[in-house]
Formats: sequence, C-alpha cells, structure tokens
Amino acid sequence: MSERTSPIVTGLREQDLAGYQRVAAAARAELQRDPHRPQYHFTPPANWMNDPNGLIQWNGRYHLFYQHHPHGPLWAEMHWGHAVSDDLLHWQDLPAALAPTPDTCDRDGIFSGCTVDDGGTPTILYTGVDGPNQAVCVATGDDALLRWTKDPANPVVPQGPPDLDLLRTADCTHFRDPSVWWEGDRWQMLVGSGIRGAGGTVLRYSSPDLRHWTFEGPLLIGDEHAHDPVWTGSMWECPQLFPLADRHVLMISVWHEGRTHYPAAMIGIYADGRFVPESAAVLDAGSHYAPQTILDDRGRRLLIGWLREQRSREAQALSGWNGVMSIPWVLSLGADRRLRYAPASELAALRHAHQRVEKQILPADQDLLFPDLGGDVIELSAELAPEGANALGLVVRRTPDGTEETRIVYEPARCCIFVDRTRSSLDDRGDTTRHEAHLQLHAGEPLRLRVFLDRSVLELVANERLILSERIYPTREASQEVGIFASGGPARLLALDHWAMRSIW
Ligand code: FRU
Repeated sequence: MSERTSPIVTGLREQDLAGYQRVAAAARAELQRDPHRPQYHFTPPANWMNDPNGLIQWNGRYHLFYQHHPHGPLWAEMHWGHAVSDDLLHWQDLPAALAPTPDTCDRDGIFSGCTVDDGGTPTILYTGVDGPNQAVCVATGDDALLRWTKDPANPVVPQGPPDLDLLRTADCTHFRDPSVWWEGDRWQMLVGSGIRGAGGTVLRYSSPDLRHWTFEGPLLIGDEHAHDPVWTGSMWECPQLFPLADRHVLMISVWHEGRTHYPAAMIGIYADGRFVPESAAVLDAGSHYAPQTILDDRGRRLLIGWLREQRSREAQALSGWNGVMSIPWVLSLGADRRLRYAPASELAALRHAHQRVEKQILPADQDLLFPDLGGDVIELSAELAPEGANALGLVVRRTPDGTEETRIVYEPARCCIFVDRTRSSLDDRGDTTRHEAHLQLHAGEPLRLRVFLDRSVLELVANERLILSERIYPTREASQEVGIFASGGPARLLALDHWAMRSIW
C-alpha cells in the first residue's frame, strides 16, 4: 500500500520554529485542495493525528498537544504535536514538543498524557513506550512551551503496580495516559489500565513533587461482562476526572481486544480516593474518541476529542493527513445530573451569511429542499416538532439528483437519533455503520439540533443532551444541498437557521 508523502511533509522534521512553520504552512496549502479536509476544525499540518494531549492554558493562550506521527499518514512513532491559539478557533502550528529518544524508556513512542503548572514550570506527564512496557515519564518546558527537557529520573513510574493482574496482550501491558491535578497537599494522578478477567480500571497515585509516586489503589474497576447501563470493555484509555456542579465526572475511552470503541462518561461521587458512579453513558457513539477536558480562565469545562477517520486504511494512507479534533464543547450538568453540551461561543465568530427558513408544516414522505441554503462548510440550527412523524430530521450534502446524501434521523417512538450514511458517498471505502444515540423528548419538547458540518466532519448536538459525530466522504462536488424531511406522518418545522462558516486556515 502506498502512502502519500512529499518532500514538504518530510521537512516537518525541522525543529527550528520559523522553518517548521514554513513547511507546515506549505503542507497545509497543499492539502487544502482535498475536498474532505475540514475548514474550521483543527487538523495537523499533514500526516497522522490521534488523541488531544496536555490541553492547558498558559499565559492566557490555549495549548493543544496531540498524538502525532509527523512522517506519515498512518499511526506510528508517536510524537506530541503542538499548536497554540488565542481564541480556540485559529491555531498556530508549533514544532513537535516531544519525540522518542533512542535507547530510552520512550524509544518506541510518546503516548498520551497531560500538562500541569508546577509552581510556574510547565510540566508534561506522558506515557513512555519501550517495547511491551508503558511507563509514566516527565518533561519540563520553557515559558513559551517550545523546548522540552525530559527528566533524567524517567521513568518516574516504570510500570503498573506489580501485585495487580493488569491486562497484558501480545504487544504490551496496558498502563498509560496519566492525568494529573493538585488536590489538598499533593498531586493526584490517574493512569488507564485494565484488570485481567475483571474490566477496565483507573489506577490512582499521589506525589508531593511529580517525580515520586505512591500507588494509592484503583479509583474504579469496571466489569467487562456488564452491558447495562453501558458496556465498558477490558481496558480504559485516557481517564479524566473533574468536578462539575455538585458531582464528579469520570471520562474514559473504551478499548477492547485491539479496538477503540467510544468514550464513556460516568457521573458520581469522588470521595476518599474512590469514585462511585451514579450513572454512565456513551459520550459520543460515533467517530469521537479519547477526549480531554480543561477548566479555562473563564471557568468553563471545555472538552475536545479526536474524530477518527471512518474510511478504509488505503484511503487514509493516500490522503496524506489523518484525524481531526472536535469543536470545543462546554460541559455542564443538568438538573437530572446528566451532561449537557454547548458549542464554545467563540465558534459564532466564524459565521457569515445567515439565512432563516420560517415555520411550516412538513408534509409526510417528501423532502423539503432549500436550494439557497447549501454548502459543506456550514452550521445549522433546527427546531422540529415530531407531531405524527415516525422519523424526521435533516438532509445534508445532497446532490440535486439525490445520488449522494446524508440524513440526520430522529425516531420518536424508539427515542433514538442517528446519522444515516448509507448514501453518503458513491465511494464504497467510507464506513456506513449506524451509531444510535438515545434521546427521549419530554412532552411537547421539540427536537433541537445544532449541526456543525465541515466537509468530511459532521458533528451535532441534540437538545443539549447528546453529541454525535460522524465522518462522511461524498465524492460529488454538487453534494451541497440541505433539506428537511418527515416520514410516516407530517411534522412541523419551528425554525431553521443556516450560516456559512469561515475557514480558520
Ligand atoms: C488512545 C490511545 C492512548 C495511547 C495513544 C497512543 O487513542 O490508544 O491510550 O496513549 O492513543 O497513540
């Protein structure tokens, strides 16, 4: 299988800032011609990206690090890529912060982790990979967060607790993705893992100085055989624990038998070093994975996750880039103690050319198309009353002849919402799996959808209560139409707003 590489992309090895930004800009310009490349979502300048890492606000600027293979479009040789933003929208590419060092405990990869402010010193805690071993390592940065020095004491936690039967598979013992915060008089750290025969696990450590760590016990052990309220597999990646209103949220990403599934969020009580969940739910059943959160200086709990490609490995290799970050979501807790999601208000600055469709009845079984409302870099906001319909929703990326189209479908009787991608693309290399999310409307409550459509990215939030993201790869330039539909009975359109969105690049 051939991979798309170019001299420009190879030049991304350069570590000098101006030189790096020159080649990054050239790589972006070249990939800008790709009709699937998002315009207002963060992407790497080229090549592979997965998890967001080490999200932090430093001197008022948002720093995003990310799992990155700087030399190719498929997962390999993990580095920490780096970008910085003043407004969460426009990002400046910075050279990779961390790369593997030969003959050390991170020789085979710098896996996920976090960044903390250690009394004025930016400090990264990352996963160092050496063959089958995964260990916690430390690096400190300069005030610009550009130059990072690995701690001579690395690894600071060389392996998981030896007396626990941690999940081991052919390639590794699973022990990764440190997440650290200051609590009381010491640092707390969570590490993702699994316990053989039991399920995914979050291990908890404490330290006075980020270098000397004591294992304090598991924060929580899952049950890989339980399917209710949500199946959480045999290993938990990228744990995150944070307070929200009067509860704590534990977010994990479900890994099982070599496959990444979905992020899950548990709401509950964190006390005495243990977490007791009161509820659990899939955070996004679609392409989203390994989200991280930060509390910013406006007091917002922001969440950004990795939106995986959903097309064949061959198509991924040929495209020359891989992976997108979600828009920043603001989390809150509803009166029902479930998560609520709002797009970060900054996104509104990208809107231009607003159009509105007025209230009307949607007759059953026919699409209402709006030829003037098209586009593939847009935001939509719709309010629909289901009335007698047994399915209703939006159509996007439709060709005038209907050969390509993507449907956002809500079925009131089954209380479920999904993106129908069976006709999204004439190219059969795109994934058409249906990922359903549960949404029960209260009596008289309309369906309220916000849709962020950006070329191959479709992210939506429904009634602030769930988010769902999918990737689509239409082939026709004309796949730009927007419409609404109801089937099995009429529905009512209460409002439809459409904005063209500006590119951030
Ligand atoms: C999640 C993950 C992490 C790991 C990283 C490796 O997607 O598998 O557990 O640290 O990606 O790239």
